[in-house]
Amino acid sequence: MNILQINSSIFSGGGQSTALADQFVAGLRAQNPGARLTVRDLSADPVPHLDAARFGAFLAKPEERTPAQQAVVTYSDALIEELKRADVVVLGLPLYNFGLPSTLKAYFDHVGRAGVTFRYTEKGPVGLLTGKKVYVFAARGGFYAGTPNDSQTPYIRTFLSFIGLSDIEFVYAEGLSISEASKQQSIARARAEAERLAAAGREPELAAA
Ligand SMILES: Cc1cc2nc3c(=O)[nH]c(=O)nc-3n(C[C@H](O)[C@H](O)[C@H](O)COP(=O)(O)O)c2cc1C
Repeated sequence: MNILQINSSIFSGGGQSTALADQFVAGLRAQNPGARLTVRDLSADPVPHLDAARFGAFLAKPEERTPAQQAVVTYSDALIEELKRADVVVLGLPLYNFGLPSTLKAYFDHVGRAGVTFRYTEKGPVGLLTGKKVYVFAARGGFYAGTPNDSQTPYIRTFLSFIGLSDIEFVYAEGLSISEASKQQSIARARAEAERLAAAGREPELAAA
């Protein structure tokens, strides 16, 4: 089993979303001792914003790419290869100013590539990164899950499904800024959910999912 953990908290390992993702990954590795883990920390190692030059590199014909364009494509290809290799993707997802961290958006902008991670067909778009399981650990100051103000859950589902990652579990730690009691209660609930999911995540079960 290959696990790819993507952390997007501005606090890297100190984020609540990262702590939950870490706990889940530790549990999953305990169930699958041979599992290999790759950690991508988008704060420590940010992906550049997509701009016209970078997008132009994606569109350029391979034989016509300049060396600078080739470097952009090689970088994006490496991010995609890392995703392709993963059987399980674990995402630490903070809520900042009602949206996802801009570092995560920049990452998505580099892995959403026509002809590489999705393609258009007569029947509509088809995602090309299939057969993976995704676990999302969302940390929020307020309460949004299940309400129209949750901008993240539908967006993450839509984007990841678009590139083929449609099997997604969400775990929420909400109300972290409301009070200490609310924070502790919410984290305890999310930790219990992470433990339950990790315990259910042995390789044959995952493969059958
Ligand atoms: C810059 C910033 C913006 C935030 N914006 C929101 C927000 O719009 N809504 C909310 O409920 N919580 C907000 N919060 C609280 C975070 O969601 C909360 O601290 C959560 O733990 C962040 O995840 P992390 O600890 O993994 O970084 C914000 C926190 C920061 C640092």
